Amino acid sequence: MTRPDYNTGMSPGGCPVAPSGAVTLDGPGFHSDPALLYTRMRSEYGPVVAVELIGGIPAWLVIGYRELHQVTTDGLLFPRDSSLWNQWPMIPPDWPLLPMVGRPQPGIYFTAGAAHARHVSLVEPALESVDPFALRTACEQLADGLIDRFCGRGYADVVTEFAELLPVLTLAWIMGVPESDGSYLAQTMQTLCDGGPEAPAAYLRFVEYMQKLLVQKKAAPGQDLVSRMLAHPAPFADEEYVLNMQSVTAAGHLPTADWIGNSIRLMLVDDRFAAAFGAARHSIGQAMTEVLWEDTPTQILAGRWVSRDTRLGEALVRRGDMLLLGLAAANADPHIRQYSGAGAEPAHSGNAAHFAFGHGEYRCPYPAQQIAEIIARTGIEVLLDRLPDLDLAVPAESLIRRPSPFLRGFTALPVDFTPVPAVGGGS
Ligand code: HEM
Repeated sequence: MTRPDYNTGMSPGGCPVAPSGAVTLDGPGFHSDPALLYTRMRSEYGPVVAVELIGGIPAWLVIGYRELHQVTTDGLLFPRDSSLWNQWPMIPPDWPLLPMVGRPQPGIYFTAGAAHARHVSLVEPALESVDPFALRTACEQLADGLIDRFCGRGYADVVTEFAELLPVLTLAWIMGVPESDGSYLAQTMQTLCDGGPEAPAAYLRFVEYMQKLLVQKKAAPGQDLVSRMLAHPAPFADEEYVLNMQSVTAAGHLPTADWIGNSIRLMLVDDRFAAAFGAARHSIGQAMTEVLWEDTPTQILAGRWVSRDTRLGEALVRRGDMLLLGLAAANADPHIRQYSGAGAEPAHSGNAAHFAFGHGEYRCPYPAQQIAEIIARTGIEVLLDRLPDLDLAVPAESLIRRPSPFLRGFTALPVDFTPVPAVGGGS
């Protein structure tokens, strides 16, 4: 391990390091140019990096494609079972990353092994029952409704006025949330994801809303995801239904919002897409795929826990250690990246072997991936159809990323366009 330079808090290669010598998951490099940081980490520390989280909590960041594949494929050696964590005694109740790590809870996102499989058997068929054609139509109407709010103005913030609202409104439609409550849920999720001082209260409102929705669906089932889960033959407790409803909404909302925002940004700043802007619709799909490789919404994910001492890459990992999945870094691993020459398209174009949706037993469920794809693609298509001369209103370099090494999205994406009349879409 290279000796860090304690004066600057940077190792000679430029990675932010703690006095322990571990890399800290902090600093502007994670927001401005994470790819550069991962390249440096790879050359200094190899595919599995000792890192330090807020409060000096140690973990391993897996940035090698092969090593991440090994971790996500072997659910016995590396289960998503946070009860194994050897750091629990060190974690204060208000540790800021606690919601992301999650204590074991009876829902799809926070269980392992047989308990997880039981929740998958409830949630996946319910997600699968969503009709893609009806979803697309609903999403078009919701997108139209959002665009109606700003299309006459000639300028907008595509992140806060569109990308952050469309996924949660569409997920609300999928869950059978009454139309009149869609905006309430969207606002609650926006406050929750901002992570500011209002976030804990927003979380409580979110849980209360899901509990209320469950009661409504029990009394009057419909053709929606919650009613499908309730129709499942095996018994589940109310708490389990509610946690799964929360997981679907929370797991789907922000990554899909960032997928939309990051794709629109790419199309606005990159000449390869700008040339085709407003004309060639296939470039939307190309931009979306490129984002999943190069600018993926979930950059780092907690996590997996080591069930017995073993070697991973060049690291000796101990039972109970936490592994952070370096999805973005693994996507950029030179071992799997081949460019056919300067200026040429990357070999990945059209290739879905990225880690954007995870991999293995705990990956994003396939029907959820399809739902995300329909929401993102429909949203971008409707936006560009309605506002074909959309243009960035500020210099590309001034766009601000959300300050998180874990999720990659923009705080705002200000655009200009020729004002157009509303079409009377609903949202
Ligand atoms: C661009 C959009 C999305 C991205 C990048 C994304 C990414 C991911 C990733 C990386 C995981 C894996 C977690 C792990 O390995 O521990 C995951 C899990 C999950 N995602 Fe997604 N997701 C997206 C959209 C959605 C949507 C729209 C839904 C719901 C409709 C959804 C529902 C879920 C659920 C329920 C899980 C937990 C699966 C399990 O534990 O078995 N996701 N997602």
